[in-house]
Amino acid sequence: MDFTADRLLLFGATGDLAQRMLLPSLCALDADGLLRPDLEIIGTARSDMDDAGYRQFAREALEKYLPADRRGSMANFLNRLSYQSLDATTLDGFDALAKKVGEPQHGLAIFLSTAPSLFEPTIKGLQHAGLDGANVRMCLEKPLGTDLSSSCEINDAVASAFPEERIFRIDHYLGKETVQNLLALRFANILFEPLWNAAHIDHVQITVAETVGLESRVAYYDDSGALRDMVQNHMLQLLALVAMEPPSSFDATAIRDEKVKVLRALREVGEAETVTGQYRAGAISGEAVPGYDDELGKESDTETFVAIKAHVDNWRWKGVPFYLRTGKRLPERVTEIIVQFSCVPHSIFAEKGAKLKPNKLVIGIQPKENIRMSLMAKVPGLDREGVRMREVPLDIAMPDAFVGQHRRIAYERLLLDLIEGDQTLFVRRDEVEAQWEWIDAIRATWEEEGQTPNTYTAGSWGPSASIALAERDGVTWHE
Ligand code: BG6
Repeated sequence: MDFTADRLLLFGATGDLAQRMLLPSLCALDADGLLRPDLEIIGTARSDMDDAGYRQFAREALEKYLPADRRGSMANFLNRLSYQSLDATTLDGFDALAKKVGEPQHGLAIFLSTAPSLFEPTIKGLQHAGLDGANVRMCLEKPLGTDLSSSCEINDAVASAFPEERIFRIDHYLGKETVQNLLALRFANILFEPLWNAAHIDHVQITVAETVGLESRVAYYDDSGALRDMVQNHMLQLLALVAMEPPSSFDATAIRDEKVKVLRALREVGEAETVTGQYRAGAISGEAVPGYDDELGKESDTETFVAIKAHVDNWRWKGVPFYLRTGKRLPERVTEIIVQFSCVPHSIFAEKGAKLKPNKLVIGIQPKENIRMSLMAKVPGLDREGVRMREVPLDIAMPDAFVGQHRRIAYERLLLDLIEGDQTLFVRRDEVEAQWEWIDAIRATWEEEGQTPNTYTAGSWGPSASIALAERDGVTWHE
C-alpha cells in the first residue's frame, strides 16, 4: 500500500456520528497503537470553537461513548486534534482551513459527514483551496442522495474533483466483523460453495430488526423511510455478499465487480412482493413506547417497516426468493441471514414415520455473532414405534471461538482502511447506482398504486401482511 494519510480532515466534526462513532473509533485505534504517530486530525464544522474547545468536546464524547478500557492514553489522542470553524456554503473559509491542514507529508484523508446538500459546495471549497491533490482521499458518509438522480448528482460533483480510485463511500455494515466473516464462511470453506445455489437452496431470509424508533432524526427519517434508510444500502450489501460469485482475489476491484453483478441482476419487484408498515404505540421489553405519528407530531406516510420478496435473475439463483425485512420498533434488535436449504430428494426414513426438516444455516450478524447450522439427528431409542428425528444445532459463537479478541466498532476498521487507502470495504459508484435503480423502481410502484403503510403495534414483528408475504410461499420468517 503506497498511501497512508498523516492528516485526517473531518467535516461534521461536532455531529452525532463524530461523537458516537468517529472520535471513539479513532481513539480506540490510537490506544492500540494503530495510528501513525504523526497523524493529525483536524475537525471542522460551523460551530465557533478553538482547538482547546474541540479537545474538550471530544473528551466528553469519548467519556460518554467509548468504554474506559479502550481509551488508552486519551491525552495522547486529544493532542492529535485541532479545529477550524467553517461555513461550507461559501468559499471564504477554505483557505484558512487549508492553512490549518498544513502540508501533509504522505497523504490527506477527508471524511465528509455532513448533510448531502453541503457535499457540492464543500468539494468546490476544497478545490478552491487546493485540497484536492493526488495525495487526497475523499470519504463520503450516507445518505448519498434520495434516489438515483440525486445520487448521480453527488457522485458527479465528487468525480469532478476526485477519481473513483480516491473516493471511499461508507456503508458501515461492511465494517462489521461478522459481515466480513460472510466472505470467510463462503470462500474459506469448501463445504458450502457446492451447495450455494438454486439446486440446493430453497430461499434466503435477511432480517435487520431494530427496537429504536425515530430517535432524534425526525427530519431525516421522515423524508427517507425504511426502504431508503436500510434496504438501499445495508441490506442490499448483505444480499450481494450472500449471492455473489467467488471473486478471484481478496481485492477491491475483484470483490466489487462481483457484488455489482448481483445488484444489477436484481429483478424488478412486483407490487404484491412488498409490504410496508408504520408503528403505532405499543411496548418493547415491557416499556410503553409512542407511535411514529406521535413521535413525529403529525401524520405521515413514511414506512418504518418494509418486507420484500426479491429475486436475483441469474443461473445460480434462478427461482430462489430472497425475503428481506427491516423495521423500527420491532421486538428485538437482531440482524441475521438465514439460508434455508432444500429437502433431501428422497427420505429413506419416511416409511419409518420420521419427518425431516431441511437444513438451515443461520448467520447472526448482531447482537449475537454466531453461525448455527441445523442438522437432523435421530432421537436416541430403540425405534420400535418408528424412527424419530429432531433438528439439532451445530453452533459456533464467535466471541467464544475468539476469546480475548476485541469486538471492534465498524468504523474502526473503515477509518483505518481509509487512512491506509484500501477501498475493498467501501462501495463503488456503480454499486450505489445499481442499488438506487432497484429501489427507485419499488418506490415508483408504490406511488403508482398509491400504496400507504399498514400499521403495526410497536413491539410486534411488523404488519400481518408481512407474515402473509412469506406464508403464501409456505415460508415462515425465522424468529
Ligand atoms: C443507519 C440508519 O444507517 O443504520 C439507522 O440510518 C439505523 O436508521 C442504523 O438505526 C443501524 O445501524 P446498526 O449498526 O445499529 O445496525
